[in-house]
Amino acid sequence: MASQTEQNTTPNLAMKSDDTLRSSVLESFRSAYGVEADGVFFAPGRVNLLGAHLDYNGGDVLPVAVDLGIAGAFALRDRDTIRLRSLQADQIVEISLEDLDGKIDPARGWANYVLGTAKLLFERVGQRRGFDAVFDSNLPMAAGLSSSAAIEVVTAYALDALLGAGVPLVDLARIGHRAEREYVGVQCGIMDQFASALGREGHALWLHCTQETFEYVPLSKGALQILVVDTRKSRKLAEVAFNDRVRECAEAHAILRAKVRDLPALADYTRADLADVEADLSIEQHRRARHVITEMRRIREGVASLKAGDLASFGAQVVASHVSTAEDYEVSCDELDLVVHESCRLARVHGARLTGAGFGGCAIVLAEPDAVPEVRETVGRSFQDRFGVEPGFRVLTPGGGPRMLH
Ligand code: GLA
Repeated sequence: MASQTEQNTTPNLAMKSDDTLRSSVLESFRSAYGVEADGVFFAPGRVNLLGAHLDYNGGDVLPVAVDLGIAGAFALRDRDTIRLRSLQADQIVEISLEDLDGKIDPARGWANYVLGTAKLLFERVGQRRGFDAVFDSNLPMAAGLSSSAAIEVVTAYALDALLGAGVPLVDLARIGHRAEREYVGVQCGIMDQFASALGREGHALWLHCTQETFEYVPLSKGALQILVVDTRKSRKLAEVAFNDRVRECAEAHAILRAKVRDLPALADYTRADLADVEADLSIEQHRRARHVITEMRRIREGVASLKAGDLASFGAQVVASHVSTAEDYEVSCDELDLVVHESCRLARVHGARLTGAGFGGCAIVLAEPDAVPEVRETVGRSFQDRFGVEPGFRVLTPGGGPRMLH
C-alpha cells in the first residue's frame, strides 16, 4: 500500500510524460552522483476494479496496471554503498551493503521500500552490489494507486536487468511483496506487486491470490473509461488501520476453522458458514468476514459480466463492492462516498468505488467516454461545495508492466 508520506499534497494528477520522467531522473542522477546512469526503468501503479481487501484473505482481485508510475535511474557501483534520491522527497539516503542486514530505520521512509527489495533481490541472485539510484514519479503518493508497489517493482526489475539475472516477473513481484511485509511492516497481500509486475496493456489481471494464478481479462477501451478521482484526503494512520483489518479477518477465520470447517482462507467460506458462528464473532469480526465472503461472489459475477461485455451488470457489482467496503469493512470516508454517490447518479456511468486500501486517496469511476466531462464537472462542483477542495481527475489508460525507458 502507498505510504511514503502521510500527506497527499500532489497538486493535480500530474502529467509528466515518460520522456519527462526519463530526462528528470537522468539529469538529477548526473548532478547528484557526477556520472551517467546505466539505465532508466519504469514500473506502473494500479487501480483495482473489484475484490477489495481480498488478496490477504485468500480471494480474487481484479487490478489494472495504469499508465502512471515510478521511474528510476540506476547504476551499479564497485563500492559497498547504496545511495538513493527521490525527486519527491528531497533527501539523499546512503547506507552500506552491510547495513541492509541491520535494524530498519523508519526515518529512511520511502527508501525502505527500495532497500528491502534490494536486499531480497540480492539474496535471490546470490550476489550483492553497491548502486546509486534516483526516482521520480507521475503517480500521486499515498493516494491508493500503489506507489509503494511501483517503487518496489521498479527496483527489483532494474537490479535484475543490470545484474543480468533473469529472475521471472512473478518472482520480482513476490520479492517486492516480501519487502513490504518483512522490511516495511505492512501486512498487505500480493495484489499491488503482481499488478505492477504483470500488467498488460488494455487488460485487467484476474488474480487468484491463494494459488497465485491469473488470467488477463480484456477491457474494451471504446466502451469504458477509468476515471480516477483524487480526493486529496490524507491517509493518516492508514497503515495501523490496515493491519487492524488484517488481524480482524484472521481472527474471524480462526473461529470459522474451529467451529465450522477447516478451509484455507476466509474467502473460501459461505454466508451459511458465517451464520453458524455469528454469535461467536464480535460485531467487527462479523462485518469484516461478511464483506470478504460477499465480495468473492461479486468478483466472480463481475468478471463473468465483463467477459460477456455486460457493463451495466459489471458496474452494479462495482458499486455493491463500494457499499460493502464502506459499511462492513469501514475503510471509506465522506470524500470517497461523495465521489461514488454523485458520479453514479449520472447517465452513462456504470459504477464507481474507492480503490486501494481506502481511508482516503482515490476513487475510480467507470464511465462511457462521452460521459467523462460531465463527471468532472458535476462531481468536481459537489465536492468543492462540500469540502472546499478541488479533487484531481484523470482518465487512466490500462498500461503494461515494468520496462526500460529508452
Ligand atoms: C492495499 C494493499 C493491497 C490490498 C488493498 C486492498 O493496496 O497493499 O494488498 O489489500 O490495499 O484491496
